[in-house]
Amino acid sequence: MGCHQVSAPTGPAPKDPPQASPPSTALLTGTLSCSGRGCHADFERPDVKDQSPSRFSYTRWLHQDPHTRAYQVLFEPLAIEIGKKLGIANVGEEPRCLVCHCTPLAARNDPIAVEERTFGVGCEACHGPAHQWLVPHRDAAWQKMKPAEKQLEYARVGMNWLQGQSERALVCAGCHIGAPANNANGLPARAIDGSTSACAFFARALMGTWSCYLG
Ligand code: HEC
Ligand code: HEC
Ligand code: HEC
Repeated sequence: MGCHQVSAPTGPAPKDPPQASPPSTALLTGTLSCSGRGCHADFERPDVKDQSPSRFSYTRWLHQDPHTRAYQVLFEPLAIEIGKKLGIANVGEEPRCLVCHCTPLAARNDPIAVEERTFGVGCEACHGPAHQWLVPHRDAAWQKMKPAEKQLEYARVGMNWLQGQSERALVCAGCHIGAPANNANGLPARAIDGSTSACAFFARALMGTWSCYLG
């Protein structure tokens, strides 16, 4: 008897412990989740006075942003040639290439990731994975927040505050210069170190357009 008595377990089985930061593509909601006509995929309407660019972010990305092509280029002759030189048989499935040529979390190898790759560098590549964001940011209450409150909210749900120049520069540099491996999410280094590929430079050199770096 007493405090050491062990009784048979009753009641429901204990739940799995919560994961602090699930290392999963489930963090992504996918580029299409931003694409409602009433969300970010409205037509650009020069005839509508003061139409907010937020209404057509998706539309403009789709029609005008070279990032939409980032995944496709991995299947073109130049990419295949880079692959040969680096001993990579299939650059279109190589995480070391995908981590910059699509939304980084989509470089993972699960069905959601593979589907999301085709969108290239999608919304969540720059804005951050939106699983905690998608629903609350549509609330009237959320939309009424002042910028300072919003900034805190972005940080809380893991979105990037791209209005901030330094945060924005880090996001762009992460692919246009490089970034360390993200072990928690199983992502390789975004490396411009010669072993993966000095990609932007390598691609340019093979295309014979070094002049754009030489001024
Ligand atoms: C650190 C990020 C990064 C990695 C890793 C990376 N790339 Fe790139 N790649 C870029 C960026 C950024 C550009 C665009 C450069 C520009 O246009 O200024 C680019 C451009 C290219 C281009 C030229 C695309 C075009 O429009 O013609 C090819 C081809 C390419 N990369 C293939 C690869 C292959 C193959 C791998 C893997 C071996 C790879 N890249 C890995 C960031 C990366
Ligand atoms: C290559 C990076 C990049 C990609 C990809 C991208 N954005 Fe942005 N987005 C930005 C930057 C940078 C800003 C400007 C922030 C500022 O100046 O306030 C921005 C601004 C916005 C804004 C205005 C509100 C805000 O948060 O500043 C919306 C809405 C938006 N983007 C939606 C999208 C959607 C939807 C997609 C996908 C179709 C997308 N973005 C893809 C970088 C990106
Ligand atoms: C997830 C990786 C990634 C991120 C993040 C990213 N880019 Fe890119 N960017 C690329 C790749 C890959 C290409 C090449 C696409 C292609 O070949 O068509 C590219 C192409 C471009 C181009 C066209 C270059 C050319 O030669 O035509 C510009 C400009 C650019 N990015 C600017 C930005 C800016 C500004 C940001 C941050 C707001 C940013 N990128 C964030 C990967 C990224």
